[in-house]
Amino acid sequence: MFTPAITATGVYVPPHTITNDELVVAFNAYADRVNAENAEAIAAGTLEAIPHSSSEFILKASGIESRYVMDKEGVLDPARMYPRLHQRSDDEPGIMAEMGVAACRTALEKAGRRGDEVDLVICAASNMERAYPAIAVEIQKLIGAKGFAFDMNVACSSATFGIQAAADMIRAGSVRRALVVNPEITSGHLEWRDRDCHFIFGDVATATLIERREDAAHGFEIRSTRCATEFSNNIRNNNGFLRRNRPDGMADRRDMQFMQEGRKVFKEVLPMVSAHILHHLGDDGVEAGALKRLWLHQANKTMNDFIGRKVLGRDPEGNEQPNILQEFANTSSAGSIIAFDRFSDDLAPGDLGLICSFGAGYSVGSVIVERF
Ligand code: COA
Repeated sequence: MFTPAITATGVYVPPHTITNDELVVAFNAYADRVNAENAEAIAAGTLEAIPHSSSEFILKASGIESRYVMDKEGVLDPARMYPRLHQRSDDEPGIMAEMGVAACRTALEKAGRRGDEVDLVICAASNMERAYPAIAVEIQKLIGAKGFAFDMNVACSSATFGIQAAADMIRAGSVRRALVVNPEITSGHLEWRDRDCHFIFGDVATATLIERREDAAHGFEIRSTRCATEFSNNIRNNNGFLRRNRPDGMADRRDMQFMQEGRKVFKEVLPMVSAHILHHLGDDGVEAGALKRLWLHQANKTMNDFIGRKVLGRDPEGNEQPNILQEFANTSSAGSIIAFDRFSDDLAPGDLGLICSFGAGYSVGSVIVERF
């Protein structure tokens, strides 16, 4: 048996930002246009007018101030309201592979490793741009990795589930060095015309390099991992191949994009996640008070503050439970890894921390790490 360790992470940040104000201007222009087109039905009471969105609401409800996207113009065009991401030809790298490779290269460079020293690539993300071949196999080829690669999808929990899969294989000796890659083009599956959620997501890609501890001079030993799932329809996207069999077609159906019952998610996921973390810590013999850092999934600030308080038994201080969602919004599976990437260098050997992601499924995954 070998001991797995996270030895480096990489973050690819897309080229464009959208502030709340820019987003709200576009949304309100869209709403005004649709309301004007339907003025008669609205006046007759057969159709409800689309209300305006507001930056104040977005900041207060979520803590989000801006988000990165792969394409800004398409999203902010009131006549379009979704990104212009052209379908690549079969001879070009896919867009997810391209973002993922950029994050992988950063992680490899930080660890002083080459692509051909990697023998497992897992692409773990909440949406894949195609069915097959796996995005991970394309990334494997582009970075020159050996061994094998596969895709997996556990929505927002994909990163921690991927880390558990890779860590278990390293532990068992079936692979020596793994990259878990999370390219999240959330802008492609967000309904930007839905006021209740148009502000939630942003694009990004992260990569986590996992090696045998004995192969690295420093990093974060993976002490233990824990994954759990419980079926719920409260976060759902019905976009799949069966859509072609539907008599109503597929073009503009609301359920072909991200949908959620935000309030229910809030109420149901918070206790599930807090209890999951506390049980995981207990089973690993770690006192919550011994944790130097909590790198949580980044969906909502109030949610993270609540989990931090519940786990630590007091308000988290300073960078104990850092948030990056104000800059990135919810980046699905990548959020906790961005927080880890940005807020882990200052930990000292022996310091303990916990990475946790949660979301659709429902799903929750946690990873207890120790700095060395
Ligand atoms: N601008 C202005 N007002 C808005 C608005 C917007 N963009 N969106 C909603 N509102 C209004 C609602 O219509 C509602 O009005 P009402 O009280 O008159 O009915 C009010 O603001 C409150 O809306 P609500 O949806 O209840 O807000 P909330 O405080 O629950 O916050 C979320 C919404 C989505 C931010 C929050 O529920 C959340 O973060 N949930 C969990 C999300 C999550 O983790 N999802 C996982 C995704 S992977």
